[in-house]
Order: sequence, then structure tokens, then C-alpha cells
Amino acid sequence: MQMYDLINKKKNKEVLTKEEIEFIVNGYTKGSIPDYQMSAFLMAVCLNKMNHEETAHFTMAMANSGDILDLSKVHGVKVDKHSTGGVGDKTSLVLSPMVAALGIPVAKMSGRGLGHTGGTVDKLESFPGFSTEISSEQFIENINKIKLAIVGQTANLAPADKKIYALRDVTATVDNISLIASSIMSKKIASGSDVIVLDVKTGSGAFMKKYEDALALAKEMVEIGTRAGKTTYALITDMNQPLGRAIGNAIEVKEAIETLSGNGPKDLLEVSLTLASYMVLGAGKAKTFEEAKKILQGTIESKSALDKMAEFIRAQGGDSEFVYNPELLKTASICYDVKAPCDGYVKEILTDEIGMASLVLGGGRVTKDSKIDLSVGIIIHKKLGDKVTKNEPLATLYANDDDKRKEAKKRIIGAYVISKEEVERPPYIYSIVT
Ligand code: URA
Repeated sequence: MQMYDLINKKKNKEVLTKEEIEFIVNGYTKGSIPDYQMSAFLMAVCLNKMNHEETAHFTMAMANSGDILDLSKVHGVKVDKHSTGGVGDKTSLVLSPMVAALGIPVAKMSGRGLGHTGGTVDKLESFPGFSTEISSEQFIENINKIKLAIVGQTANLAPADKKIYALRDVTATVDNISLIASSIMSKKIASGSDVIVLDVKTGSGAFMKKYEDALALAKEMVEIGTRAGKTTYALITDMNQPLGRAIGNAIEVKEAIETLSGNGPKDLLEVSLTLASYMVLGAGKAKTFEEAKKILQGTIESKSALDKMAEFIRAQGGDSEFVYNPELLKTASICYDVKAPCDGYVKEILTDEIGMASLVLGGGRVTKDSKIDLSVGIIIHKKLGDKVTKNEPLATLYANDDDKRKEAKKRIIGAYVISKEEVERPPYIYSIVT
């Protein structure tokens, strides 16, 4: 088989076989196919597309390029959730203990990554002593014992995706639904769970700005997951404003704990409960969505989800006292209110800009070696549709550096569009793909 012929085939809009796709992915990962040939192939895919079958083969070839987490020793149906990412997205911290409190094993492999805030792993490190660097034996033992464990992503998880994604980034070949879906799903499939619930975000703070693109991505990922024998659901949820009110690391953990204590923001609770309900349905612990949601709500009312969070933090070396006293979590030294410039209603929030303000404060990583400040962040006081009066706080910044605080303030002011007319609030959830 020659890579030249396979590039030509895709250029001529032909369909590639499983063996041909495996040849491409394995050859590129090993280094026998050079960057220039892989770039040409990826561009041909962007222009001429891959069908569902080719996309599924591409995904499996990437998933099989490294370690596949073996969860066969975990008792019961293992569930996992993945988000395409958004500002203030902390649903994993809320739903994982709720689902585990129902006796359903939640086996999560989470990354750190680049972004406006750290990933779930970074956020959890706000608990002194907490570590996701646990052995695979400890990981399995914790899941069997307390039904929840989170481990850091191994370097050898879908290495083909890592290499291909880096190439796509510099060859203008990121924005193809097949390539995005296979990239995300290769890592999820390699993570070993039986049920995958996907949160595909759409709006001004999302990777997929347009609903139609988010829907196409959701459909493709569900197709891949189903072909791989996984029960897969995808929810399309709103990201035209931050989820909840907190953006940062320790500050998001605090909000997650408040939500598990029954005092969280409505949007965060609703999105978390809905995602969790599909995890419960997938695990076969409820017959209907309504039943699943009701028993999950029960874990908040009984405080069993909060206790589960404490048990999980303790099992991974963290101080669980912080779960019951979240005010102990570290907050930055400067607390500053960003005030509304005029009267009116919040018409639009440029959510990416709010994310950038968090990044500027030091809450996220610009490069993979950047150090995160877990104590900085933003609390949003005004959300879409809210009435504002001049000089009322739009947001509060928590900073450790006054220059960064000034830059973040500028970005927050620029992110708010205020109109004289009343504004309708967007829904939390748009649709579900099963
Ligand atoms: N996230 C991924 O993991 N892969 C993509 O291709 C895009 C977003």
C-alpha cells in the first residue's frame, strides 16, 4: 500500500477501507508516513469528507494506537461524561458524586489541557493533598469501593490523535466534523467506559459557535460511540454565557460544592442533573428520564452526593474538611467589582472574552508548561436577560496582581452588551441526540 495512492483516492472522493485507514493512522504514528503526506491527506478529508464508516475506522485506529484502559475488574456498568468545553463548565464536579452516590461506577480519566481555567484535574487540586496520580490498581480499587475515581490522562492515551491534532492545528484542518468527532471519541473509547454522555456546547463561548455545527458533531460522535458498542448520548447545551456564576479553579470547586449542598445556580444544577440522568439511564438504574432525575435530586436533598464528594477527595489524598467548609478554599488577595457602565438589560455576553479575562488573571494555561493560579477567578453577577443599573457590579474579580486585574476588568466590560429593551433568556439545553 502506498500513501500516495490513498491521498489520491481521497482527492478523487473515493471511500477508503478499514485496512487503508489503519495503514494511514499507524504509519503516521510510527513515523513512516511524513507530515507532508499526512497534511495532504487531512486536507483532502476536509474538502471531500469521510463517511460514517470511514470516520468510525479512523477513530478506532487512533484509540488502538496506545493504551486502552482495562476496566474489566470494575463491577457494574461504567459511565463517563465528556464536554466539548466552555467557560465556567464544572458539571463533572457536580454530577460525578451524584451518580456515584447511586452506586454507579464513575471512572474518569481527565486532562489538564490549555484553556480559560484548568481542567477538572487542576480544579480538584484546590483541595490540599489531592492527587490524580494514582496507580491503575488504586484507581480500580477506589471505583469498586466508593464508585468514583479520577485519574490523570496517561501520556500514551491515543498517541495517534495527539500527533494528528498537532498537525491539524498548523495546517488549517481542525474544522472538519469527522476529524473533530474521531479525535474526541478516540480518547473516550480508550478510556474504557461502557456509557458515554457527551455535552456538546454551542454559543459564544463554545468551540462550536453555531447550533447546526454542534448538532452535526453530536450526531457523528453518537454514531461512532454506538458503532464501538458504547451506549452514547449527546446533549447540546447553551454556552452563550458562562455556566453558573464562577469561573476559575478553587472558585468553581466552591460553586460545585454549593450546588451539591442545594444552594447552587439553577443553570448549573439543571445541566448537571440532565447529563447525570442520561448516565443513570445508560447504566440501567432508572427506566425513564424523569425517574433518573428524581433519584439524582434525592442525592442532593439527602446530602449523600456531598458525602460522596468528601469520601472521594479523602480516597485520593485530599482534605475532605474543605468539602464541608468550602470557605477554606484559597481565594486571591484582591477582590474587585466591575461596575455596569449604564442602565439596561444584558443582551449579549461575549463568553470567550470572559474566559480570556480568567486566563489573564492566571486561572488557565497559555502553553502546556504555564503554571496555574488556583486562587484567582471571576464571579458573574449579571447574566443574559438580567436588568442592570449603572454602577451595579456586573462581576467580581479575584486577582493576585493589579495589572492583570486591570486587563481582566477591560475584557469584562468589553464582553457585556447592554440594551435598553428587555431581553429573552436562552434555554439551558437545546436538544438530545441518542
Ligand atoms: N477537541 C479535541 O479533542 N479534538 C478536536 O479535534 C477538537 C477539539
